[in-house]
Amino acid sequence: MQPEEVDAARDAALAAIAAATDLDDLKRVRTEHAGDRSPLALANREIGALPPQARKEAGQRVGQARGAVNQALAARQEVLDAEQAERILVEETVDVTLTTDRVPAGARHPITTGSELIADIFVAMGWEVAEGPVIEAEWLNFDALNLGPDHPARTMQDTFWTASPDGAGVESGVVLRTHTSPVQARTMLTRTPPIYVVCPGRVFRTDEYDATHSPMFHQVEGLAIDEGISMAHLKGTLDHFASQLFGEGITTRFRPSYFPFTEPSAEVDLRCFVCKGEDAATCRTCRGEGWIEWGGCGVVNPRVLTACGVDADRYTGFAFGMGIDRTLMFRHGLSDLRALFEGDIRFTTAFGTEL
Ligand code: PHE
Repeated sequence: MQPEEVDAARDAALAAIAAATDLDDLKRVRTEHAGDRSPLALANREIGALPPQARKEAGQRVGQARGAVNQALAARQEVLDAEQAERILVEETVDVTLTTDRVPAGARHPITTGSELIADIFVAMGWEVAEGPVIEAEWLNFDALNLGPDHPARTMQDTFWTASPDGAGVESGVVLRTHTSPVQARTMLTRTPPIYVVCPGRVFRTDEYDATHSPMFHQVEGLAIDEGISMAHLKGTLDHFASQLFGEGITTRFRPSYFPFTEPSAEVDLRCFVCKGEDAATCRTCRGEGWIEWGGCGVVNPRVLTACGVDADRYTGFAFGMGIDRTLMFRHGLSDLRALFEGDIRFTTAFGTEL
């Protein structure tokens, strides 16, 4: 190989190295210009066949050219390595704050979040949350609430009785509570007025399990005992409750009714929050009524106050109770109550995930 050819091969190699844009490119350039079959490697091999004088000269020239090429390769390699590392840092950045879909996040049950939402409305007014056991003394579930032994609600038809140890059946004196009202009695027996409590909880009745009934469901009870409490306070409280839960302007109406533990008593209806009573005829939520049945309420019967150790001459009170499941059903437009109890994660997730 002529000296100019060696220089040309070196220059071509250096130009190719400088032009290599990434590591793959450089690898190809290395094979082409510094590999076993590259022009300079071939030139190196020819040297042995030259006469001694020419051999020395050619050896130096080719050796220098190969040295320059190898140096340039190493330098370019370093630059491209660094560039690649930099690029990986940017391109393969992992956002550790992104949620992963590998572990599906569950959701709190709508009855749990619904009960908390209801309790919060009362806590915001300074009320407290009270609780009681679901396996309850017959006396607290019935007698203390002026539901005498002959009251129809005590028959086997809607009460679950626990079996007594001696096999005497209904004589056990222990029931699965049929409403949250025994928490009223428990609260009055253990505290002194003023009393302002809400009691959300599970209740049981021997109902068939269908789209609108379940032998286990949920109620929320409210009880206020203070000096000078009247039906007006009850109405104002329920109107506030309704508008907090269903929106501004959604209030309640009372229809005369009877409960042994309240006198006077009323059924409380909720203004239909969908049609607002304005075009009830076509409304699917209230079915043409303009109102939705919500629960029961009244002024606490003085006999209940007395049975629970509250001075009925000094104090009066009001109480109310409504179904939480039912409330959630019409609030969220659910057509089948059973969806609330069957534990299908697709149902709870649809209510949104709360952590
Ligand atoms: N306990 C009643 C029921 O289960 C509801 C109610 C509560 C009525 C408080 C009046 C006062 O139907």
